[in-house]
Amino acid sequence: MKLKYILAAALLAVGLSASAQTIIKFSHVVATDTPKGQAAEFFAKRANELTGGKVKVEVYANSTLYKDKEEMEALQIGAVQMLAPSLAKFGPLGVRDFEVFDLPFIFDNDAELHKVTTGAVGKKLFDKLSTKGITGLAYWDNGFKSFSANKPLKNPEDFKGLKMRIQGSKVLESQMRSVGALPQVMAFSEVYQALQTGVVDGTENPHSNLYTQKMHEVQKHVTLTDHGYLGYAVITNKKFWDGLPADVRGQLEKAMVEATVYANKIAKSKNDDAIAAVRASGKTTVYTPTAAERMALKKAMVKVHKEMESRIGKETIDSVYQATGFDPSKL
Ligand code: LMR
Repeated sequence: MKLKYILAAALLAVGLSASAQTIIKFSHVVATDTPKGQAAEFFAKRANELTGGKVKVEVYANSTLYKDKEEMEALQIGAVQMLAPSLAKFGPLGVRDFEVFDLPFIFDNDAELHKVTTGAVGKKLFDKLSTKGITGLAYWDNGFKSFSANKPLKNPEDFKGLKMRIQGSKVLESQMRSVGALPQVMAFSEVYQALQTGVVDGTENPHSNLYTQKMHEVQKHVTLTDHGYLGYAVITNKKFWDGLPADVRGQLEKAMVEATVYANKIAKSKNDDAIAAVRASGKTTVYTPTAAERMALKKAMVKVHKEMESRIGKETIDSVYQATGFDPSKL
């Protein structure tokens, strides 16, 4: 009799777990109509389809669930299961190597960048994350950054004394100091208001972020410097991920591969559309620096590479140089 009850309870448990839906909360800080926002929605749709509804991904955009710093903590305690923070935001986790991506002028184009993210360096960085209880799933592009302010930024001297908002990265801090600006670390969700009220004078971002946060409405000048890259690592809580049934995990991995192809395909056009919309708004002057102006900025900022060697690790920086062919001594 007793055995019968035990068997019934076991069957019920199996039945329940077979039908229970796994919810993945995916939190991020940008608008839905950005490369990351669109890729997260794409992943959610494909995850649901490929798992036959066993997994539901709930995407929380625009810092509606957590802001920058909180989201990392939320992932570690399991309050959310997936994030895609920018590569500039991994320092506080103790994995400083990610800041190699923030080094000014280290990549000339997407092709060079992809050699790194899809090669040995990208893998090494993900291996380092696993010691922090985090599994790296993919690298998603956003794009190259432009500077903005309420004065034209053409030469290194133009930055002097400007309070510039940055993401929480020591490399970006050093980049701003290299031209005499005063870096201010601030959560992404607070940037628009800080620019509007004059708490900061300027910032840097890919155009999709600039436009969708309406920063162009409170910044009179944008300079198309492409001085640095901003992209993402899609990450999950390792315990959660490893605990998924193998077939479901496989289906989610497939959805992630597809979402990554999609993300990297749309990133450039989303940023091109955004800067076109900024121009069309007539609220901001969009300036393309001359080759000489860009080179002056490059020379001023590239010294950050050497300065940051002890933080990022010379080996990591050198392995990026090797992958891309960049040689700072040739400037
Ligand atoms: C920023 O804080 O400027 C970016 O990291 C936001 C983002 O996620 O693109």
